[in-house]
Amino acid sequence: MSEVLFEHGGDLEKAASLAGCSPKDLTDFSNLLNPCGSPPGLEDALKGQVGVALLHPSSGEGLKARLARQMKVIPQQVFLGGGTTEFIHFLPLWRKSQRPVIVGPTYGDYAPALRRMGVEPKWLLATEEKDWVLSSQQWEEGMKEKPDFLILSRPNNPLGQSLYHPLLKDLIQSHPQTFFVVDETCIELADDPIDNFLLDPWPRNLAVLRSFSKTYAVPGLRLGILLLHPDLAGSFRTFQMPWTVSPLAQAAGLYLTHQETWLTESQAKNRMEKERVFMELNALKKFKVFPSCMTAFTVKGLVPGFSATALLKKLLMNEKILIRDLSQHPGLGPVFFRVGLRTPSENDRLVAALKKEEAG
Ligand SMILES: Cc1ncc(COP(=O)(O)O)c(C=O)c1O
Repeated sequence: MSEVLFEHGGDLEKAASLAGCSPKDLTDFSNLLNPCGSPPGLEDALKGQVGVALLHPSSGEGLKARLARQMKVIPQQVFLGGGTTEFIHFLPLWRKSQRPVIVGPTYGDYAPALRRMGVEPKWLLATEEKDWVLSSQQWEEGMKEKPDFLILSRPNNPLGQSLYHPLLKDLIQSHPQTFFVVDETCIELADDPIDNFLLDPWPRNLAVLRSFSKTYAVPGLRLGILLLHPDLAGSFRTFQMPWTVSPLAQAAGLYLTHQETWLTESQAKNRMEKERVFMELNALKKFKVFPSCMTAFTVKGLVPGFSATALLKKLLMNEKILIRDLSQHPGLGPVFFRVGLRTPSENDRLVAALKKEEAG
C-alpha cells in the first residue's frame, strides 16, 4: 500500500509542517469550496453572537423552517448536523445496512462510514474508457443483488459528473427496497444547481444531503443538512445525537440563507472562471483534464511513471501549492489528482506551476 499523506483535502496544518512554512503561505487547491469565498458580512454578523456561542445549542427550529421554505419541503423533513459527514456516518447505522453499494469513483468517506458497520461495501464503478458513465448493464447487475443502501455524490466529487436525472429518479422509484442517499454537498458549485433531487412527492427510500461547507466556503462551521421522507423523521430523530450543531453554526446558517443574491452572483462568476481554467488546463500536453460540471477538475498525469503523490509533494515544497491526490480512490489511482478552483489570479498560479512541471 503506497503512503497516504492526506485523508481529506484542506489539512493546512499538516501541509505547512511538511512544506516548512506557515499555513497562510499555502494556496490550497485540495479543497472544493466556493471560489468566491464567503459572503461579506458573515464575520461581522458572527462577532455579535459570541455570547450565544457559549450557550447550549437550541434545536435549530428557525433555521430548519427557513431551509424548508427555500427547498420547498416541510420542516419535519429537515435535519441539521455537524456537516454532511455526520449523516454519511450515521445513516448506514440507522438503516442497519447489510448490503450497501457505493457508486463511484467518488468521495472517500463513504467506504469507511459503511465499514464501521462491519460490512464491506460493493462498488459500482464508472470507467474512463466509458467517459465515467455507468452502462445500463452495470446498473442492472448492481441492482440485481438488491442492495439495501446505495450512496452516490451528485454532482460527483471528484469528477464533476452528474448522474442523468431521469435515470436515477427511475431507479429510486423502481427499487423501493433500496435506500438511496444522494449526496448534494457540491450542488451549489455545479453549473446547474436546479438539477437536484428535492423531489415532490418525496420518495420514502430517498435521503438527500446538503451542506453549507462548500456553498459558502465555511467548512470549519460544520453545518450540514439531511432531508428525509416525513414518515421516517420520527425514527431518525430518536437516533440522532443531540447538540451536534453549535449556536454559532446555527446563527451563521441563518445569516447565510439570506445571501441569495450573493450566491447567484458568485455562481455566475464561477461558471465563467471555470470555462477559462478548463481551456488553460486542456492545453497542457502531459496532463489530461476531464470536463466537469463544477468548480473542480480531476486531472490525469500522462507521462509514464507519473505519480500524483510525488507531484503533490513537489508542488507543496516548491510552489507552496496544495493539490488533492486521488491515488487511493477506488476506480482512480496513482496518476489522478484534483484541483478545486480559487480566485482567477490563484488559478493562474496553478496553471503556471503545471506548465513549469511540463517543461521540467
Ligand atoms: C461529496 C462530499 N460529501 C460530503 C462532504 C463533507 O462535507 P461536510 O463539510 O458538510 O461534512 C464532502 C467534503 O469534501 C464532499 O465532497
